Amino acid sequence: MTLSRALKYLLPSLAVATLAGILASSPHGLLAQASPQKPQAAKPGSIKNEDCAVCHEDLTKAFDKNPHAVLEKSPKFNLSNSCESCHGPGEDHASNNGDKTKIITFKAGDSKKEYSAKCLACHNKDHELPAFAGSTHAKMGLVCVDCHAVHKGARMTRLLKDQPNNLCFSCHIQRRADFSKPYHHRVKENAMRCIDCHQPHSGIDRRQLRAQISGEMACTRCHREKEGPFVFEHAVLKVKDCQSCHEPHGSNNPKMLVRSTVRTLCLECHSASSNVLNSQPPSFHNVRLPRYQNCTICHVKIHGSNSSPLFLR
Ligand code: HEC
Ligand code: HEC
Ligand code: HEC
Ligand code: HEC
Ligand code: HEC
Ligand code: HEC
Ligand code: HEC
Ligand code: HEC
Ligand code: HEC
Ligand code: HEC
Repeated sequence: MTLSRALKYLLPSLAVATLAGILASSPHGLLAQASPQKPQAAKPGSIKNEDCAVCHEDLTKAFDKNPHAVLEKSPKFNLSNSCESCHGPGEDHASNNGDKTKIITFKAGDSKKEYSAKCLACHNKDHELPAFAGSTHAKMGLVCVDCHAVHKGARMTRLLKDQPNNLCFSCHIQRRADFSKPYHHRVKENAMRCIDCHQPHSGIDRRQLRAQISGEMACTRCHREKEGPFVFEHAVLKVKDCQSCHEPHGSNNPKMLVRSTVRTLCLECHSASSNVLNSQPPSFHNVRLPRYQNCTICHVKIHGSNSSPLFLR
């Protein structure tokens, strides 16, 4: 960087400091009205990436490989001050020897609320991001940079702070136990990801579950054959979801069932005492006989059938 540029920022400028003082103590409307001190600047307080580079040389160089480099390089954006698009106006910071309180650092707790707004100023159209504010994550105070690291993120991983499953486990420690049960989706083994079922950003669906564009549930994306439509539907799959019978993460029971035996599961709905349904096993089902205990030996098409209203084939 040129010496003159460097000097400009290394010698704190009285004029700029005074202006900053006025701006800080005045109603925010003034900020927009104040006449630019530097004619070449886009707006008051605005400085270019090359100005940042005077003091942050390595970081600015490395930024060439960041997906956000398009902001400066692509004629579509043509933002010579793209550093400021996230960090906010940088002139006060620069002319005060890099005073950290005069720039958005994405580290200070106080202004955390505004961090997501900074990112969403551009990412307000991407896929599910417009719904971020309604997500449990946002409501619990998470911001974009709790999961993403702009400079330190790996390029091929959507600038995530860590490989996706590790990232989720880093906060959801208890979920590790779910996936350690004998019957589980192989997330810990990295054969599958949390985000195959969950949306990290969106709050449209319960539990931030990933619904597909057609509105199907998270599970049938992979288990399509369980979805139907079937000539004879097992109504529970239509009115409720797979979790009526399965643990989604992992279970101590085979087939990740919510009950230890198939029979207890079925009888929770299909019995006189359950008071849930009219349809009960006919009297010839003597459930004390082992022969009748494993219901799905006969009711094999338990998710729905195209030929048997009782799911027998
Ligand atoms: C005059 C030199 C100088 C210029 C120009 C400058 N900075 Fe800095 N910046 C510093 C110094 C020195 C620090 C470290 C301050 C400290 O550790 O207390 C710093 C710290 C920062 C931090 C906070 C790092 C942390 O540890 O939290 C950010 C973010 C930052 N600068 C961004 C920028 C951006 C963006 C620009 C251009 C708009 C810029 N800086 C221009 C000197 C400069
Ligand atoms: C000035 C506009 C702008 C701002 C502000 C902005 N981004 Fe971006 N972001 C972009 C553009 C443009 C891309 C590249 C899009 C592409 O490649 O399709 C991008 C890409 C990304 C990607 C995807 C990277 C990849 O590997 O595909 C992530 C993640 C991201 N931004 C996160 C953030 C976060 C977090 C913030 C706030 C700290 C933020 N962005 C602020 C414009 C912006
Ligand atoms: C709970 C963690 C988490 C939070 C909080 C989060 N993200 Fe993400 N983000 C992810 C994960 C995980 C992916 C990767 C998704 C994939 O690969 O399918 C991602 C992907 C992205 C992408 C790439 C495009 C896409 O939609 O897949 C962009 C852009 C992005 N995030 C921006 C943001 C912004 C902006 C915010 C804040 C408003 C934010 N993220 C908050 C975890 C998070
Ligand atoms: C897309 C938003 C975005 C852009 C553009 C951006 N930064 Fe950052 N910057 C961040 C975030 C978020 C952090 C917090 C640490 C992290 O995520 O890597 C950060 C951290 C920093 C730090 C502190 C680094 C450290 O080691 O803690 C400096 C210095 C900095 N940025 C300077 C710059 C400069 C110079 C540019 C332009 C070349 C720039 N930033 C462009 C979002 C951005
Ligand atoms: C920085 C910490 C943090 C990270 C990283 C994180 N979460 Fe969360 N997440 C939370 C908090 C806090 C809650 C709210 C309390 C709870 O339900 O545990 C939450 C809630 C959830 C919920 C329940 C939503 C609801 O409506 O009840 C799901 C699902 C979830 N996270 C999935 C993920 C996935 C998938 C990832 C990885 C992409 C992830 N989380 C990464 C902190 C985090
Ligand atoms: C196979 C799909 C699937 C995968 C993979 C998955 N989840 Fe879930 N998760 C669900 C479903 C479905 C629910 C909703 C359970 C219910 O309440 O009905 C859920 C609920 C949650 C909840 C809310 C609290 C609870 O236990 O009900 C959190 C938090 C959560 N998941 C985090 C994670 C994390 C972290 C990962 C990865 C380590 C992950 N999930 C992987 C399907 C999945
Ligand atoms: C990303 C693909 C994917 C999604 C989404 C998915 N699964 Fe799976 N599921 C699998 C794979 C692969 C297996 C094979 C077992 C393994 O992982 O070893 C499996 C196995 C199962 C099993 C049988 C386990 C056994 O012991 O035979 C059940 C039950 C199951 N999944 C239910 C669900 C439910 C319920 C959901 C939604 C909450 C769901 N799956 C979402 C991929 C998926
Ligand atoms: C009414 C309870 C019930 C519901 C609801 C249900 N299942 Fe099942 N599912 C079972 C039972 C019982 C078994 C074990 C069948 C056996 O013993 O052979 C099973 C087995 C499975 C298996 C492993 C064996 C196979 O047939 O591939 C998968 C995968 C599966 N279910 C996925 C799903 C998905 C996806 C949904 C939601 C669309 C769902 N289930 C809804 C009761 C149910
Ligand atoms: C969460 C409740 C629920 C569970 C658990 C459940 N079912 Fe059902 N089942 C229903 C509903 C609802 C219907 C629709 C008939 C009705 O409303 O009476 C139905 C219908 C049936 C039918 C067709 C009979 C008829 O009269 O239409 C059979 C056979 C059946 N279930 C067997 C089973 C078996 C075997 C299991 C255990 C693997 C099981 N069900 C678990 C709710 C459930
Ligand atoms: C040995 C095979 C077999 C086993 C095991 C079995 N069923 Fe059945 N189930 C049948 C047959 C066959 C029918 C049809 C009887 C008929 O046509 O009237 C039937 C009918 C039903 C019906 C429909 C009743 C109606 O009138 O709509 C329900 C509900 C049912 N079974 C539930 C169960 C449950 C729950 C279990 C496990 C406790 C079970 N079945 C185990 C063979 C079996």
